[in-house]
Amino acid sequence: GKSGYDHYMLKEIHEQPRALRQCLQERVDELSGTVDLGDDIATAVQNAESIQLVACGTSYHAALYAAELFRSQGVPAQAFVASEYVTSPPPHDDDTLVIGVTQSGETADTLSALRDAQRRGVDTLAVTNVVGSTASRECDGVLYIRSGPEIGVAATKTFSAQVLAVNMVAAVMGNGDTSHEFVSALRDLPGQVQTVLDETNAREVAERFVDSDAYFFIGRGYDYPVAMEGALKMKEISYKHAEGFPAGELKHGPLALVTGNTPVFAVVTGETGSEKTVGNVKEVEARNAPVVAVTDGRTDVERYADEVLEVPETDPRLAPVLANVQLQLVSYHVAKKLGRSIDKPRNLAKSVTVE
Ligand code: F6R
Repeated sequence: GKSGYDHYMLKEIHEQPRALRQCLQERVDELSGTVDLGDDIATAVQNAESIQLVACGTSYHAALYAAELFRSQGVPAQAFVASEYVTSPPPHDDDTLVIGVTQSGETADTLSALRDAQRRGVDTLAVTNVVGSTASRECDGVLYIRSGPEIGVAATKTFSAQVLAVNMVAAVMGNGDTSHEFVSALRDLPGQVQTVLDETNAREVAERFVDSDAYFFIGRGYDYPVAMEGALKMKEISYKHAEGFPAGELKHGPLALVTGNTPVFAVVTGETGSEKTVGNVKEVEARNAPVVAVTDGRTDVERYADEVLEVPETDPRLAPVLANVQLQLVSYHVAKKLGRSIDKPRNLAKSVTVE
């Protein structure tokens, strides 16, 4: 059941601290500062000279994030929308690893991309939530994200767990030895998600902007996939026009859409590029658009914002998870206020088993 929550989506948003703890359990050791995902995964990722990630929808946003994370470790990595990967397969070599990110493990487009890779002799790893799913059975390796069942059609806790799981993969790439600071940041993340859930003002923000014409979401670096995910969640459950952009792209076209009735959600966490995003926020503000800053307070973006959704400070790689929780809640409350069918949005299915 929904354990007293109005919707499964809200229940699952609130289950995130637990889901993240389960994902970490017996995999990270704070005392030794190590991450252990087992020998098979360690061998597969340590042998990979390059990584291609394939996924759809929300899982694609986790894949975009993962690609950036792996690149930051010096490993060439790229995320592909699975259906595009199949249409135009990128070149690979003997040491390429293909990672399929799929909550259900049953998404036809993603399975098809993984099978395509296998036919070409490429090693595959599934990052999935469902034990025994097709992806888990067919891939050479499997990493379970251990979120527990997700009933709401909109993916919430599984996105957060995917992001956490790929952070553990990145740690294993570097032989599993990572800094004590980072391992304790991983361990602190579930509690910080709880803090966001306890202290959020997302409902007030949603109520203020529920009548808007459209919603835009911007971010750069690790905040970019969160901007994309914020927009997807908003479209799916509120049926309102929403779009996510890399912050730097706004002035190359989409800025024409920005008016006083199109709030812009600016995800501004960490340090890399954040000052530039603040510059983009100023451009938006000059067009009279309301700005909602989702921020860890490392910049002065709040000075240019009409509303602020705060997140606790953490390692810059993990801050996007916290920012995303705020955006999940904004979408939820907008959709609720509009009386939408939140757990089963029109035209959508939990797992898409046709290409
Ligand atoms: C969004 C959503 C979809 C799925 C996509 C991939 O909330 O649920 O975009 O993320 O259909 O599904 P999986 O992860 O099962 O492959």
